Amino acid sequence: MNTKTVLELNGTDSQLVLACGDSAEILHWGKPVAGDKTQAVLALRRPVPYGRLDNDVAMTLSPELGRGVFSSPGIEGHRDGLDWAPVFTLNHVEQHDDTLSLESADEGAGLTLLTELSLDKHDVLKVRHTLTNNKPSNYQVNRLANTLPLPARAGELMTYHGRWVHEFQTVRQPLLQGGYQQENRRGRTSHEHYPALVAGTPHFDEMHGEVWGFHFAWSGNHRLRVDVKTDGRRIMQAEEIYLPGEIALAEGESLTTPWLYASYSANGLNGMSHHFHDHVRATILPADFAQKPRPIHLNTWEGIYFDHNPGYIMEMATQSAAMGVERFIIDDGWFRGRNGDKAALGDWFLDEGKYPDGLKPVIDNVNRLGMEFGLWFEPEMINKDSDLYREHPEWLLAVDGYEQPTGRNQYVIDLQNDEAFAFLFSRLDHFLSTYNIAYIKWDMNREIVQPGHLGKAAGHNQTERYYALVDKVRAAHPNVEIESCAAGGGRIDFEVLKRTHRFWTSDNNDALERQHIQRGMSYFFPPEVMGSHIGAAHCHSTRRRHSIAFRGLTALFGHMGIELDPVKESQEEKQGFERYIALHKSLRPLLHSGKTWRVPTDDAAHQILAVVAEDKSEAVVQIAQLAMPTNALSGHVRIPGLSPDALYRVELIDAPENFNDIVNCQPAWTQEGCELSGEWCSTVGLTMPILDAETAVLIALKRIDA
Ligand code: GLA
Repeated sequence: MNTKTVLELNGTDSQLVLACGDSAEILHWGKPVAGDKTQAVLALRRPVPYGRLDNDVAMTLSPELGRGVFSSPGIEGHRDGLDWAPVFTLNHVEQHDDTLSLESADEGAGLTLLTELSLDKHDVLKVRHTLTNNKPSNYQVNRLANTLPLPARAGELMTYHGRWVHEFQTVRQPLLQGGYQQENRRGRTSHEHYPALVAGTPHFDEMHGEVWGFHFAWSGNHRLRVDVKTDGRRIMQAEEIYLPGEIALAEGESLTTPWLYASYSANGLNGMSHHFHDHVRATILPADFAQKPRPIHLNTWEGIYFDHNPGYIMEMATQSAAMGVERFIIDDGWFRGRNGDKAALGDWFLDEGKYPDGLKPVIDNVNRLGMEFGLWFEPEMINKDSDLYREHPEWLLAVDGYEQPTGRNQYVIDLQNDEAFAFLFSRLDHFLSTYNIAYIKWDMNREIVQPGHLGKAAGHNQTERYYALVDKVRAAHPNVEIESCAAGGGRIDFEVLKRTHRFWTSDNNDALERQHIQRGMSYFFPPEVMGSHIGAAHCHSTRRRHSIAFRGLTALFGHMGIELDPVKESQEEKQGFERYIALHKSLRPLLHSGKTWRVPTDDAAHQILAVVAEDKSEAVVQIAQLAMPTNALSGHVRIPGLSPDALYRVELIDAPENFNDIVNCQPAWTQEGCELSGEWCSTVGLTMPILDAETAVLIALKRIDA
């Protein structure tokens, strides 16, 4: 034991301490601890109770059944029934700055395991494993999981659930004996099982408590679990779910897990989000567009659905440009035979009936109006009623002899079929090479059932081939930006974001629903990747009505767009769109680079979001009132993240039309503004205004003493 080497990875506000002997074990992942740690192993050597194995069993980075770990193992596999309980010996450790590589082997089983760990200055820890088969016979891998320990004080979880038009819903639960497990078998990241969770000390909240957040970067099937072992030790585990037989490693072949991203914060959920946001901005988002302001969108979907008429679309474009839109996107309905959602997916040829003069005049017009042009595709999908299917029924991702259930009347294309893959690339390449297309909305509208390639399970490879197709398109057209959409937010994760630029957060444009959906997404993603559109006053997915002010302020805190037919909108609504577009443009540099704070409220009816500039020179705060508050007076709004000694001018910059008519008087500061120190703002705050349910106000703070 004493011969173990103690290694450290240091972030800015977190630290990982490992003991490396014949295996590696994490001793500490939490607040940084300075000083000598040579006796840390001794300090943490566990007692061995009666009634169990005679020697202590370490909880390694890949728990092994063969070592005597009775919890969920890190590896499950076999070689025709043999080599099924490998025990790995750590034989080589290398550290380069913030990265550690640990090489282990089980010579007898003919397996090596490489574990990569890194902790960056944003306090994001990344871990993954690579398993290699070194023997002549195939090694069948059933499971290969990433495992990280949690301390015994991690007694509560925040997990996700959701569905179409209801993504990113969070739920809290105590972490008791047993634990938590979620399994996603839907073949895409999914609306239902967003691959992330947070564990923390009991009652952790936005500002307080220790939290350990996890995001598993994989766009297919996965399992996440948090186990409380019967001895009280806790682990978090994240893995792909492999379908039967799909991973068989031949001699010399390797399997690498997706990355598990994790972050520790001593300052509650906001601290954790800051780590993930900074990491996403610095290392995940494609760097090529980092400096480009994100253009305001007009997306045609909810405006015209499948009813395309180029003359009319040009009028929509003209009116969009007049409102300040910067990118015009033609959604579904532009290709041959696509008049509804029952036919034509796969036939990626322009519908010349709808566009007799081609797409060029429309795009030229959009460009002349000063806007970029974008086009919708759903490359992985096929309708049986399509020329493509009639020509290539064998391209279906399916298992012969079984009837595939449909999803939105469509089926999935087998991307492992090289001809199908090449065809899809050539169609995308054709459009991107022929026209001035700056952006594609890449959709994926159904779940995957029985992903079969040549009869065998192919769920893992289908996801890998999807990444490969996006990568090939990106490499051929590096100036084109891509949005990841899957019936709204069905494919939102860090691995997709490495090759795309934005997510379509949800098909639900209802501002009240969006307040919840966007908040759930904000735990792991910064606002600029969150597509958020102002929809029509009468929301298409919930039939609720909201004022333009509430819709505008809600869409403001993301990558903003408009999703309706501007030609049919009233003058008053159009003035509203113009106002919020202009407001977004003026705040965009701050919103898309600052620190987001989910601000605690005194009444649960309110939801408050602040974005504070990195240099703390300015901030913008949205107070949304989602329901009727308990009392007539709702306490104070306290704004975190400012510079305590600095003086700020506080002003109300947007409010509902009837703001001053619904009360005898609103708080004085909303009328005259006021000047306060950062410390006052965060400690005492300002008295809350009175609002109607489903309305919001916007406050701006500017530093005036520097
Ligand atoms: C999905 C998307 C929508 C729209 C339609 C088009 O539902 O989420 O935004 O693109 O497909 O069919």
